[in-house]
Amino acid sequence: MISTTTLQHGLVGIFAASLASAASLVQVTNFGANPSGIQMYVAAPANLPAKPAIIVAMHPCGGSAQQYYNENKFGRQLADQYGFVAIYPGTTKDFNCWDAATSASLTHNGGSDSQGIVNMVKYAIDKYGADPSRVYMTGSSSGAIMTNVLAGAYPDVFAAGAAFSGMPYGCLAGSPGSSPISADPACANGQKIKSGAEWAAQVKAAYPGYSGKYPRMQLWHGTADTVIRYQDLDEEVKQWSTVHSVTFTRNVTNSPTNGYTQMVYGDGTQVVAYSGANVGHYVPTNEQVVLDWFGITGGGSGGSPGTPTSTAGNPPQPTTSAPPVTTNPPTGGPTQTQYGQ
Ligand SMILES: *[C@@H]1O[C@H](CO)[C@@H](O)[C@H](O)[C@H]1NC(C)=O
Repeated sequence: MISTTTLQHGLVGIFAASLASAASLVQVTNFGANPSGIQMYVAAPANLPAKPAIIVAMHPCGGSAQQYYNENKFGRQLADQYGFVAIYPGTTKDFNCWDAATSASLTHNGGSDSQGIVNMVKYAIDKYGADPSRVYMTGSSSGAIMTNVLAGAYPDVFAAGAAFSGMPYGCLAGSPGSSPISADPACANGQKIKSGAEWAAQVKAAYPGYSGKYPRMQLWHGTADTVIRYQDLDEEVKQWSTVHSVTFTRNVTNSPTNGYTQMVYGDGTQVVAYSGANVGHYVPTNEQVVLDWFGITGGGSGGSPGTPTSTAGNPPQPTTSAPPVTTNPPTGGPTQTQYGQ
């Protein structure tokens, strides 16, 4: 006869086992040089495939690693499903905004937040045997600004990025801070207008002498964004289309969902933008479209040939399973933090 205690232990064991199979968020200290004292959290599935990809997911101003992990599905669900490592960096400085203003952060190997994040990537490549050619990044608001910063300063580290409601690389250069409270507001207000050549020159100056590839960029923005103006999407597009030497090709309306227009540059493998009609600062992270772009799902809109990374028995989710954008409300509400959500 099975005693109640044995049964309880058995149930606890099953429960613990199912918990262990989901990638929970764990803090990592001592990941390497950390010039600005930021935090590293990681969600790594128990059964990673060989040479997994890495996705760095960066929170908005006022947010945290835990908040962004809870808000999107990259670490909570998709890391397990597709077998990648999700890194959630966190900062508590400057109203929890990433440093996109100092020359340290904007310069290759210059220090500050960008170098700390890159050292998290290097740690994860080493620890999980991850594929250095499949390191990706995404973020919202301040995290999207940081995605642009890293694309400019560390093009050798990141293969692709997806930025939700961001600004071009260097837009905040020289600003006294990177938060709405501390920053020069011109960039957030869409008043830093430059030519593609000027923006691209700024990118090139971040890493002089570098002649390799730059990250493929997927850029999202709402037309009704009052925190970081829609004009900044145009500035990002000018920047990265110039860097990648591509020009506007076509629009695809109602893509990926109603009300969004996909703007394709060149053959669509290097730069793609998504414009959300009447969408505000909060743009849902559309994880499936992002994973397609990174080539992690093995199909879809991504430019690179999809690398099948998922393990057997974990079939890729159909794109249609992504939640409709309308059911994903802003989390910030009336007290929403600027550059946050
Ligand atoms: C493409 O879509 C964007 C966003 O809706 C719009 O601003 C632009 O005018 C469109 N371009 C063309 C050529 O239709």
